[in-house]
Formats: sequence, structure tokens, C-alpha cells
Amino acid sequence: MDGGSVGGLALAGGEPVLGSLAPVDWPRTTDADRAAVLSVLESNVFVSDRAGETAVERLERSWADYLGVRRCVGVSNGTTAIELALLAHGVGPGDEVVVPALTFVGTAMAVVHVGATPVYADVDPVTFTMSPDSLAAEITGRTRAVLPVHLHGLSADLDAIGEVARRHGLVVVEDAAQAHGARHRGVLSGASGNTATFSLQMTKNLPTCGEGGLVVTDDDRLADRLVQLRQFGETIRPDRPRRYVSHRLGFNAKLSNVQAAYTSSQLERLDEYHAARRANVGAFLARLRPLEGLTCPSEPDGYEHAWHILRFVVDFERVLPGLEPGAARNLLMRALRAEGMPVTRYQMMPLADQPALRPLNRQSPASWPVTQDVIDRSFTLQQRQLPPDAGPLLQSFADAVEKVWSYLKVLPELAEGAGR
Ligand SMILES: Cc1ncc(COP(=O)(O)O)c(C=O)c1O
Repeated sequence: MDGGSVGGLALAGGEPVLGSLAPVDWPRTTDADRAAVLSVLESNVFVSDRAGETAVERLERSWADYLGVRRCVGVSNGTTAIELALLAHGVGPGDEVVVPALTFVGTAMAVVHVGATPVYADVDPVTFTMSPDSLAAEITGRTRAVLPVHLHGLSADLDAIGEVARRHGLVVVEDAAQAHGARHRGVLSGASGNTATFSLQMTKNLPTCGEGGLVVTDDDRLADRLVQLRQFGETIRPDRPRRYVSHRLGFNAKLSNVQAAYTSSQLERLDEYHAARRANVGAFLARLRPLEGLTCPSEPDGYEHAWHILRFVVDFERVLPGLEPGAARNLLMRALRAEGMPVTRYQMMPLADQPALRPLNRQSPASWPVTQDVIDRSFTLQQRQLPPDAGPLLQSFADAVEKVWSYLKVLPELAEGAGR
């Protein structure tokens, strides 16, 4: 590729690397998944408030066994999973919960919905997960819990975060919504001994055909509280009819058996998909690493990434000098999308700046310099473009990135307002 005249770029009317923007191709539904769902429809047992073994109980057992933890409780989605986990630990009004400034908004909304206040810690510039130093700096007399997020499929630094939490007597609830199959020091995310929550929302590495969530714990009493909380505060026992007695203020946060059966069937293929994704992403990143000014997502020693989202950080001053960084990022993303690579921005602002959360924030807007910098200088590729057979597709994405990189000198001619 000579990259001489800008006209070769799809953004300027040239031939795109891919014929059109690569389509969303996740989750993958097999005959086994269909049969699992059908068997629930035929059983007529749709919710988990029934006596006898249900598809929800079977999923709970298999996920607990997969992780090697004592208990798993199925709930309606990953946000509710965090809410119920915090409530089961007694977190509520007057408490502060430290969350990372870079994560999905549901992490902080769950804190708000239990009546506590989210406090935001900055992230590490390499892993994008919660900085243990920033966590330590944000602790006050009201801090009750810390909610590290295994963002993009990479575990947070649980050793350092756990150390800070122990020193201050904090509850640790791990948000593992994006990290099914990830490991830290050989331990699967969710199996570290803390309470951990997962999302089964259809975009996740372990999906359902809709919405769902799981909470895992080694603490039986906590798990029993969670079961009550998802079921109006009632205790459902297999050996007697439902009594309709509420022992605590609960919610209707049940997981449906259809959703659970679909996920149980997907779970059979989680390891296979995880291995395929790791091979595909490994080959993809190996091609992109040599490109000047582009920092690929990394897998630090001792970590096994689940590659839910790939975040690329660009040194725009070096790559597109003379352009304002926001304009440079938008131009690069437009060029890549025109070639057929569906890059996105995952999170447009530090969490505290979300319009819904801003009125509750008491921290200075300058509290998260790394988060702000990462958001300003990065673009992402999301899991829905990383299905297990995406190896060839990812190689085409690598072609697209290499092509755009070969045109960097002339690319500014296509910047908005560049006089074309
Ligand atoms: C990090 C993180 N936390 C929480 C959630 C919430 O999960 P759900 O969408 O199932 O409510 C998500 C989902 O996208 C997430 O990515």
C-alpha cells in the first residue's frame, strides 16, 4: 500500500477493505441452545419461585461448580446483581462505595439505587482497571465497600485492592459483568473469595437470549439473603407450597428459566469460545503492535484476559500532529469505519460526568486524569465483533488498520473543516 494520495482511502471514495461495516454476530445460537430453550417451554416451568429443580437452579449449580465457589444466585440482570450484592452486605444510605471512574454506568447506578454514594477512583493507564492508589486516596470514614470492575475482560488488581480493603475493613464486591473466563494468578474472576456479580446480557462472553445476572459467594447466609432479596423477601422451599410471607423488603429480580437454560447450554462452550477468542485476538494484536503511535491492549503477567472489549490508545500528537486530539480521534475512527471496521467509543466521559450522576458528585472534575486521558485518546472494538470464528475477520480489521496507518500523512486532508 503506497498511501500516496488520500483517494485510496474508503473515506475518500476508495475501495474499502471490507465490503461493508462488519455486522454484529453475537450471541451464536446452536441447535443445543434451541433444544434447551424448547425444553423449558415444554415444561411450562418458567420462573424460579416453583418447588422442585428448575433451569435456574441448574445454571446456579453449574456456574458455582465452574468457578469452584459454594453458591450462585441467578437474578434478572447484572445491574440488579450488584444492587442485591450490596444490599445483602448491608450497604445502604450514608455509605460510600468506591467504583472506578471508567466503567459501564450500571456499576455506579447500582450504588445509587441502594441509597449509597458512589465515589470514583481513577484507573491504571495500562490495564484500565481501578488504581489501588487512587482507591486508597478516596477512602473516608464513610467508605463501606469497594467495587472493582474487571473491565473489558481483564481482572482488576485484586491483590492490591484486597490489601487496601482489609486495612480499612471494606467489603469487596467484584463487578465481573465483562469477565467470564478471565483469570488472575490462575484464579477465575469471581472465584477469589469475594462476592462477585456477572451479567448474562446478550452481548457478554457468557450470554443469554436477553437479560440475566448471577451473584456468587462462598457465604451461605449471604446467598440465602440474596435468594430472599430477588423474591419479595420470601423463602421458597422445595418441600412445601409457597407461603407468601415476606421476611425482608425484597424485589422481583428473578431470572427466567428460559434465560437460564440458554445460558447453561452456552456455558458448555465457554471454554472453547474463550480459547478461540484468545487465539484470534492474539494473532490480531501481533499485527497491530508494530504500528507507530498505537498502544494495543495488554495482558500483564499473571493475568488471563477474556478479551470482552479491545481498547486501543493512540498517541495523536505523533500520529496526526497538528490536529486537535478530539478531531484526530474522530477522523481516525471515521477512516476505520469507512474501511468496514466497526470501531466505537466505549464510554464518552468519566462516570461522574454522566448527566444522570453529575448532580450527586462531590469530587473535583480533575480527580480522574488517567480516565479522562484514556477516554480522549482511545477507540474500542467490542465483543460482538469477536465471535469464536472471527479470526479471518480480525485479520481483515488488521488490514484496515494497516491501510489507514499507511495514509496517516495525508489523512488530515479529510478532517472535517479541512477545506474539501
Ligand atoms: C461493567 C459492567 N457492569 C454492570 C453491567 C450491567 O449488566 P446488565 O446490563 O446485565 O444490567 C454491565 C453491562 O453492560 C457492565 O459491562
